[in-house]
Amino acid sequence: MTDPSPAAVVVLAAGEGTRMRSAMPKVLHRIGGRSLLGHAVAAARGVSPQHLAVVVRHGRDQVAAHVADLDGEAIIVEQDEVPGTGRAVACAMAVLPVRAGTVVVTCGDVPLLSPAILADLIAAHESGGHAVTVLTARVTSPDGYGRILRDASGAVTGVVEQADASDAQRAIDEINSGIYAFDAAFLRDALPALRADNAAGEVYLTDVVGLARTTGHSVGAVPAEDPWVVEGVNDLVQLARLGRELNDRTLARWMRAGVTVVDPVSTWVDVGVQLAADVTLLPGVQLHGGTTVATAARIGPDSTLTDVRVGAGAVVVRTHAEGADIGANVMVGPFSYLRPGTVLRAGSKVGAYVEVKNSEIGEGAKVPHLSYLGDAAVGSGSNIGAGTIVANYDGVDKHHTIVGAHSFVGSNSVLVAPVRVGDGAYVAAGSAVVSDVGPGQLAVARARQRLVDGWVARRRPGSPSARAAVQAASSAVAAGQTVDDTRERGADPGIEE
Ligand code: UD1
Ligand code: CA
Repeated sequence: MTDPSPAAVVVLAAGEGTRMRSAMPKVLHRIGGRSLLGHAVAAARGVSPQHLAVVVRHGRDQVAAHVADLDGEAIIVEQDEVPGTGRAVACAMAVLPVRAGTVVVTCGDVPLLSPAILADLIAAHESGGHAVTVLTARVTSPDGYGRILRDASGAVTGVVEQADASDAQRAIDEINSGIYAFDAAFLRDALPALRADNAAGEVYLTDVVGLARTTGHSVGAVPAEDPWVVEGVNDLVQLARLGRELNDRTLARWMRAGVTVVDPVSTWVDVGVQLAADVTLLPGVQLHGGTTVATAARIGPDSTLTDVRVGAGAVVVRTHAEGADIGANVMVGPFSYLRPGTVLRAGSKVGAYVEVKNSEIGEGAKVPHLSYLGDAAVGSGSNIGAGTIVANYDGVDKHHTIVGAHSFVGSNSVLVAPVRVGDGAYVAAGSAVVSDVGPGQLAVARARQRLVDGWVARRRPGSPSARAAVQAASSAVAAGQTVDDTRERGADPGIEE
């Protein structure tokens, strides 16, 4: 393949997209974690054009801001009030400093187009010495597309839009992809000759093809073998169809690279995700944004990870996570919620019904059940008991909590930030910890248990509880046991002061 590098690629993205019936501009709708325009710009950049222009008008501010995010070097061209793809290209050519060479035109609503297809189009165009070369495809349902007209010898004579086509022309199954390579000088001459004398009352770029033919220029056509790559999105049904197809392709690529995908139908992976060999994705997994998963990690079932890094050998079950860093061999889930700024060091564990935000869990540390940790750091080897809550918010400000290494926080404790629990310290179950606990100390921060003899007999006489208590006492006497109701309890079962 020769170096494609055209003089310019013009991406058309000014259309209204009325068939989407959406307040959002069409080209901002997303598949595979990327806007339609993002896909178009990526394909255009892939052939290294000297200039890349995007034509905007409908939803101008939103679309232009998005282009600037996608590609800081792209030239944003404003289309004026005259509608049509021909006018859009004329507006671009008025701005672009391109007099010679190849100008490629693509559509912002054709998301599966690849740089390789564009490179083939450019190569055919330049080697054929054509004034215009159109990318076409044979499709089973050509409805809505412009049809390619050919003469008896098979040479392309023009493009007719569906609305302007005769019944015989509508039966043609070769469609115009809306993607072309033009000779820049020819295009400049042809654009002013276009008229809006058609059913839509728009200036059609497609008329340039017919014009090339009638003015004796050479017209080329490159049929795409894979019709999906030229399929456009005009409504939300097509958006979903193409989203599914893109996902199937993404998964096939990863499966060929050694990723096990148990159920491709329920697994969705964005185009920006990176997966290592021997990763396993169980049913119901969605991986979004820049998520990366290292080798031998297992995700799912039913997990959604956005911009998450998953380390080698980690296991993530029924989890919702965003902006988290999950280390090697970490166990997460089921039913865990990891929010941005979560860092789980190697071998740690975040278990069922645990929410973590902006917190670091040290190597081998465990938060196994029913907890909330916010703005906290837990040292290596520590255990955070079931139901522990870090109260990081005092109603005005957020504060930090530090738990040292090899510490033990008893179940159902609340750590009221800012507070520090030292290395090797213990917190008794049910404590409300409001001040620092030193290394090796035990903190007991709750009322000691009291036992009041005969309370039920006095205050609930004749109740089922009272009868049960009498029954228990008499069985104990019959068995020769004594009921020890006077023993003072320690701070926690198993922890004596
Ligand atoms: C266009 C082609 C049709 C082709 C189809 C392929 C024309 C007249 N028709 O039809 O032959 O089969 O694409 O998908 O070109 N746009 C502008 N400015 C405008 C109008 C449109 O920038 O004034 C942009 C749109 O944002 C879109 C692209 O051009 O990205 C195509 O416009 P659309 O209205 O979708 O054209 P189609 O009817 O699909
Ligand atoms: Ca279209």
